[in-house]
Amino acid sequence: MKIALCADLHFGSVPIGLEDALREAMEAERPDVIVVAGDLTLRARRREFEAAKTWLAALRTPALVLPGNHDLPYFNLLQRFADPFHRFHQATGTPHLMPVFEGGGGAILGFNTARSWQPHLRWQEGAARRRDIAAAEAEFAAMPPGLFKAVAAHHPFLRVRDEPRARPVRRAGDALRAFARCGVELLMSGHTHRSFAVEVQVGGGRLVALGAPTALSARMRGEANGFWTVEADAAAIACTLWLREGAPGRTDRFSPSPTKSFARR
Ligand SMILES: [Fe+2]
Ligand SMILES: [Fe+2]
Repeated sequence: MKIALCADLHFGSVPIGLEDALREAMEAERPDVIVVAGDLTLRARRREFEAAKTWLAALRTPALVLPGNHDLPYFNLLQRFADPFHRFHQATGTPHLMPVFEGGGGAILGFNTARSWQPHLRWQEGAARRRDIAAAEAEFAAMPPGLFKAVAAHHPFLRVRDEPRARPVRRAGDALRAFARCGVELLMSGHTHRSFAVEVQVGGGRLVALGAPTALSARMRGEANGFWTVEADAAAIACTLWLREGAPGRTDRFSPSPTKSFARR
């Protein structure tokens, strides 16, 4: 299975033309699926979702799209509580917040961690709902055996050294143990605007956790715009980070960094 992972597109703050360069660079790698791990927009404005919709519609590759904390109504509090994912659903054309992709010998479950309300004021942070964890387990249990299994979410599920924005979502422990029980081997996320690729022990198993840099936004937090490609075969999960070359704003080309390979169990 071959995956392209991008996140934090943040339409509303994208340098002109960069979105086309991103789409072309990812599709040139011929992935089975493109994962868009949330934060399509900057402030969930109508015109930002329109730009996201146009970009998604031009993809020739199946896409698995998730909302991020920036995709919830920011100015319109009434809508934030009444119908928080309305504009997201309109832009992506899917009613699902937990989409599933199956193909290329693998399956990816999209896990929604963006919440319109939480019992504290850090609403930008993520949470895993109990019923979503149970739904994910049921979804994986119904899949045919032998598939390579992955989860994609907007927020990271674990702490990562030297990445202060990588904080576990609420109920991350429960979610990770459930994923491990289901045989999930790869966990993809965005939100940090910085990349990481680490291996973590969960229960009796191991997971590869991959964090994406911001694919398009000018809010880069010290790393160039970029995306990942992941190739899982019988022996290994090979992860390649593609970063935009040169000084910020100077070029729209993405180049691969050395591949990090993690042996499968
Ligand atoms: Fe973001
Ligand atoms: Fe985010």
